Amino acid sequence: MGGCTMKGIKACVFDAYGTLFDVNSVARAARDVLGNNWLPLSELWRMKQLQYTWLRSLIGKHADFWQVTEDALDFAMSSFAINDVSLRNRLMNLYLGISAYPEVTDTLIRLKTKGIKLAILSNGTPQMLASAVNNSRLAQLFDAILSVEEVGIFKPHPSVYQLAMDRLSVTQEEVCFISSNGWDAFSAKAFGFRVIWCNRLSQVKERIPEAPDGEIRDLSALPDCLVC
Ligand code: LAC
Repeated sequence: MGGCTMKGIKACVFDAYGTLFDVNSVARAARDVLGNNWLPLSELWRMKQLQYTWLRSLIGKHADFWQVTEDALDFAMSSFAINDVSLRNRLMNLYLGISAYPEVTDTLIRLKTKGIKLAILSNGTPQMLASAVNNSRLAQLFDAILSVEEVGIFKPHPSVYQLAMDRLSVTQEEVCFISSNGWDAFSAKAFGFRVIWCNRLSQVKERIPEAPDGEIRDLSALPDCLVC
């Protein structure tokens, strides 16, 4: 893993939460009420949200990402002894208007100019993804916005990654999958995609199969990695 140069890529497939959209922007927007708790609460909320996706997939009891996000928020608020229904509703509503990272629009335009198909492949529900994409005025840039709801199980189940191949009519080698979530980047590589880990937080590498092909710090470095 290291810098990256990829040839023959026909489609860039992006993870949504954490990669295109800043999950911490949600609780940050409620700092007026959360005070210094906003970041620890945000981190616990995100950690539980992901855990619940993995647990529900393992026990075979799927619920959609809206439900999982709400359950994780209830856990996080309860852990901080916050009992405030209007704050809970406000945070869930803010999730629908989650902010894109600043470099996202420009990066997508540069990739589209290269003739590369653009897609999202996310745990989010179709409604959550449509709302996030519209809020950041990104809708026109994507060829497909794919939700795990089509297959009824969360990442990193292989059927989720397969969905992108089927819907974009591309082979595994023609896909560049991009995620800031290490576990998602490694799992997508294990599936067979070519993968760039957008390692925004300089996290250490995961100890699961398989190491991504390249690593960048934010998405602005992506277009130069892909050569025709
Ligand atoms: C997603 C989560 C993993 O968007 O961030 O799929």
